[in-house]
Amino acid sequence: MGAASRNIVLVTGGAGFIGSNLVERLLDEPDTRVRLLDNFSRRGVMHNYEWLRTLAGNNRLEIIEGDVRDTAAVRKAARDANEIYHLAAQVAVTTSVDDPATDFEVNAVGTFNVLEAARLSSRNPFVLFTSTNKVYGSLDGIPVSVQGSRYVAHRAGFRGVTESEPLDFHSPYGCSKGAADQYVRDYARIYNLDTAVFRMSCVAGPRQFGNEDQGWVAHFLYSVLQGRTITVCGDGFQVRDVLHVHDLIDAMMAARAVRTCVRGEVYNLGGGMVRTISVIELLRECERRTGLPLHLDYTAVRPGDQPLYISSTAKLEAHTGWKPRRSLTDILDSIEAFWHENRERIAAEPSQAANAALLEQEVA
Ligand SMILES: NC(=O)c1ccc[n+]([C@@H]2O[C@H](COP(=O)([O-])OP(=O)(O)OC[C@H]3O[C@@H](n4cnc5c(N)ncnc54)[C@H](O)[C@@H]3O)[C@@H](O)[C@H]2O)c1
Repeated sequence: MGAASRNIVLVTGGAGFIGSNLVERLLDEPDTRVRLLDNFSRRGVMHNYEWLRTLAGNNRLEIIEGDVRDTAAVRKAARDANEIYHLAAQVAVTTSVDDPATDFEVNAVGTFNVLEAARLSSRNPFVLFTSTNKVYGSLDGIPVSVQGSRYVAHRAGFRGVTESEPLDFHSPYGCSKGAADQYVRDYARIYNLDTAVFRMSCVAGPRQFGNEDQGWVAHFLYSVLQGRTITVCGDGFQVRDVLHVHDLIDAMMAARAVRTCVRGEVYNLGGGMVRTISVIELLRECERRTGLPLHLDYTAVRPGDQPLYISSTAKLEAHTGWKPRRSLTDILDSIEAFWHENRERIAAEPSQAANAALLEQEVA
């Protein structure tokens, strides 16, 4: 890392989909040194690791293979950081149901470790935590009905879910992220740390190794391109708002620029009302843009699945001046372009063991 750089930024989960896009952006700043902490457990993220090492500014990038469950490793990585973006997580609801203990350790204890490292640091770092819309549960308080190919909400004046929606943690993932979300918020109140929480819905774009359990937009498009059968859970009318990952990174940069103003705040973040799509609409769009047939298999709806989730981003916009700029078409274009550039890697989807072997080779 260049010794002249003044700003030291820690990104946990920095090899992941959002993390690698964030690291790319941070490396554009000549005064910033980026420290990436990741255990490389997510399938495919070694490709992001290799890509990050090729970027201009990579002499200001330090990559640490480490686990957020490891208190000492987190403290060491955070020791002189001015900013911490805590993205490392167990990210799939399905996996959390199969193994709630690991999910709790990574998401709740891992976040606690990051907060403690920040509290004990002399740098008073800005801490941004990526939470989830799952903290609002199945949103039974928003009645829905089917109109055409999607659910619509029946709540007067509905312009998206705001931060005042009651919390209702649902699924081990919802509980572990929700607990972490509340800790992050409270460390601002109790310890005066500059923390902020982004409760994100669906983020999509390049560098996402989407699979059946997480990253559905990329997963659907990659599956159609490969002629794979796609399992649709429920009727396919579920609606989500989708945000381009580069718009999310813009939002992170906007929040850090006003860190004392966003201190202790939570913000809902997604594509908003104008970037909504249902599962079946997305599948039809994939079919249209690729010219390839869909192979669908229907199964039961997942427990706690929200029939409709649309974020209201009004609070973040008011506090930071941020606005999303990319459309749903831009999002799909960027995923498709990433596919064409990386099709062999995406199709191969290396396992965790393969990730570890690659890392060993790289480090050796
Ligand atoms: N992508 C979305 O749509 C979305 C939506 C809501 C919230 N989020 C949150 O955003 C964050 C980033 O998500 P993403 O989509 O980039 O996922 P991702 O799986 O691509 O990235 C997560 C990264 O964390 C790493 N990791 C996992 N466990 C770890 C551990 N114990 N120690 C260190 N590193 C570990 C993984 O190897 C991976 O590189 C997560 O906190 C996730 O819960 C994402």
